Amino acid sequence: MLRGAGAGLRIPALHARVSASVLPSAAMSDILILYYSRGGSVAALARQIARGVEEVPGMQARLRSVPPVAPVTAVAAPPEPDEGAPYVERSDLASCAGLVLGSPTRFGNMAAPLKHFIDGLGAEWASGTLVGKPAAVFTSTATQHGGQESTLLSMLLPLLHHGMLVLGLPFTEERLGSTRSGGTPYGASHVAGPQDDPALSEDEKHLARALGRRVAAIARRLEG
Ligand SMILES: Cc1cc2nc3c(=O)[nH]c(=O)nc-3n(C[C@H](O)[C@H](O)[C@H](O)COP(=O)(O)O)c2cc1C
Repeated sequence: MLRGAGAGLRIPALHARVSASVLPSAAMSDILILYYSRGGSVAALARQIARGVEEVPGMQARLRSVPPVAPVTAVAAPPEPDEGAPYVERSDLASCAGLVLGSPTRFGNMAAPLKHFIDGLGAEWASGTLVGKPAAVFTSTATQHGGQESTLLSMLLPLLHHGMLVLGLPFTEERLGSTRSGGTPYGASHVAGPQDDPALSEDEKHLARALGRRVAAIARRLEG
């Protein structure tokens, strides 16, 4: 069961309000899918990754987002977003069995709101909160060659500092070799075009689900 999903929906509709009221099951382990998305493309990938996570028995997806940032104040948003996944809490990092991080590409790099959140994780770094947990990344760009790989690789760097076990997609995923849109060995991705169209191609959906499945399956194995 998707934690944070709207009532009656296993996967929430695009940017639908997400309720945190679903009761967690003690027997399930959570993969935290943490992202920033302004236009909905990264959010669409997050939902496919969540589907992949939930194809692994005993694993459930917990969709969370980060708030926007403002130039002159640390408080740029209300405590809860008007739509989309709830904002992440530090306890989500401690309790998850794995982490999948998503951001739009901004000038070949991750967006500031996600970086801002990561930069605030000194206490988690010092205490080893994320050490030994599997992790992966995903992104969306306007253009095919607009920096997906540089963004994905830059997102992996802080995860390595946190001692996470970094995962990508292997070329045994046949669509990696044939996709004409997104989907990379470094992580899941979407080419959204100049209008930021969040509709994913079949290859992008397939590869995003494969990434979610992979992180969840490895997390399950690590938990023994
Ligand atoms: C400030 C800014 C910088 C961007 N930089 C890039 C870029 O370097 N390469 C690219 O292809 N798209 C770039 N884009 C487009 C976004 O990456 C793209 O629209 C993405 O799908 C947005 O994801 P979202 O809908 O989840 O917010 C940029 C957009 C903005 C607003």
